[in-house]
Amino acid sequence: MMNRVFPLLLAITLVACKPAMRKESINGRITDSAMVVCAHPLAAQIGAAILRKGGHAVDAAIATQLALAVVYPSAGNLGGGGFLLLREHDGTLAALDYREMAPASAATTMYLDESGNIIDGLSSKGHRSHGVPGTVAGLIAAHAKYGKLPWKELVEPAIALALNGFALTEKEADGLHGIQQDLKENNVVPPLFFLKDNWQAGDSLFLTDLGHTLERIRDLGAAGFYEGPTADSIVAEMKRGGGLITHDDLKGYKAIWRTPLTGTYKDYKIISMPPPSSGGVALLQLLKSVEPYPINDWGHNTAKTIHLMTEAERRAYADRSVYLGDPDFYNVPVARLTDKLYIDQRMRDYDPEHATPSGNIKEGMISTIESEQTTHLSIVDAQGNAVSVTTTLNDSYGSKVVVSGAGFLLNDEMDDFSIKPGVPNMYGAIGGEANKIEPGKRMLSSMTPTIVEKDGKLFMVVGTPGGTTIITSVFQIIVDVLDHRMTMQEAVDAKRFHSQWLPDTIAMEHNAMLSDDSLTLVKMGHAFRRRGGIGRVDAILVLPNGKLEGGADHRGDDTADGF
Ligand code: GLY
Repeated sequence: MMNRVFPLLLAITLVACKPAMRKESINGRITDSAMVVCAHPLAAQIGAAILRKGGHAVDAAIATQLALAVVYPSAGNLGGGGFLLLREHDGTLAALDYREMAPASAATTMYLDESGNIIDGLSSKGHRSHGVPGTVAGLIAAHAKYGKLPWKELVEPAIALALNGFALTEKEADGLHGIQQDLKENNVVPPLFFLKDNWQAGDSLFLTDLGHTLERIRDLGAAGFYEGPTADSIVAEMKRGGGLITHDDLKGYKAIWRTPLTGTYKDYKIISMPPPSSGGVALLQLLKSVEPYPINDWGHNTAKTIHLMTEAERRAYADRSVYLGDPDFYNVPVARLTDKLYIDQRMRDYDPEHATPSGNIKEGMISTIESEQTTHLSIVDAQGNAVSVTTTLNDSYGSKVVVSGAGFLLNDEMDDFSIKPGVPNMYGAIGGEANKIEPGKRMLSSMTPTIVEKDGKLFMVVGTPGGTTIITSVFQIIVDVLDHRMTMQEAVDAKRFHSQWLPDTIAMEHNAMLSDDSLTLVKMGHAFRRRGGIGRVDAILVLPNGKLEGGADHRGDDTADGF
């Protein structure tokens, strides 16, 4: 959690003599032609094995995601949703939206009490917080269009992990340890396989119910999840805990193919996720906002660079809060928001010497706090097909509700809606209509799976978890590699910062900048927040000799595997 700290004091305590940007990492690696980078070594191994068998990048993405649903239960999932972005080796693009959706009986005011006040925790924990899960529908839709290997072969490795058990990493043991009370409070039937007083690295986790759910998905495809015993278990879980998801909601869920969002940054083509993600729009806005400035001359994480990027960020996030939502329910002005003239006009009052108070930026609603737990995987196969996938349960371990008998956690993605729209913010502006709760609607996301091309060829595959910090992390990675000429692993390792209009502060990783730069920023009018790691970027860079460099984030257990 971030703590507000007096700016000058924090400026002094955050700095180091040298920013740690050329740090060696044990995680990154270079391969000849194919690679998977994801949050867990076992899942990376499984994805790479699928590529070795001649699988398409989409096949590997499916097997990797299913493995993550077992070995990385904090964010890998069957009970959540995600976005998949694909660039085929010939340059053809596709984007798949399998974001969760509000159940049919959801209502705009469902998280408010009779006086119109938000009921604490209702949208983020327990049975009222779930959107209808989209992950299984998404994986099936992706396989139907692009899969080369049989579906069953992609599900088997995850089944084996769930039924035979696997050893917890230290981070995952800590994660499970930290949610024991939440698991007890939010489940009517205790999920015994997750409950233990003191989880330790190396402890084995066996997920038998999840293994059997995966067997049904292996044998029946979507019907193994959205119908039959799995659907019955989900609906029974809703009845036990007062949740809203019905058999009709499950049967009615569809993954949607959308048109990828594209734009340019200098000589590069940027391909990213359109709404209901806000990620692609905001990323293109940010890159276009800084494009006219020589940030490569200014340097990485210097006062000038951070100031410019922060000023771009406050404008993009102000737009996000008002204009972004599910395009099937709200007319999102994507073309206008990403238009160069519009962005130039937004940056017209950029002052290179002074911070613009966020209160002076066109206001929307007060920013919601988004959960930062999500997971990303980047894949390139031996044919040059590239996949960038971000998937989420929202909070770490989602709603903490485990579907009894089916063995998986359900998301708390309803919290990504504006749960109190139409309420004036502290500047008197009214926002949140674009992302208000409506039955069947998909909640706004920040997930930003992205692919970069240069001269018509694949250049980079990138993404990260991190809630609203996703967008600024992907932004920084692109600038770090394209402008600051970092290697992929250096960019992933480099210290990051984040700002988002409101709160009007810059969140900084420890040692992110030099003391002089920090003091300059304070004098310009910026304030800081201290915080831990920002994002867990997993990315692949195509090197000039055609080899692949993986960037696997040391902030997690992230790993690159391939050949
Ligand atoms: N739940 C995080 C996101 O979708 O951005």
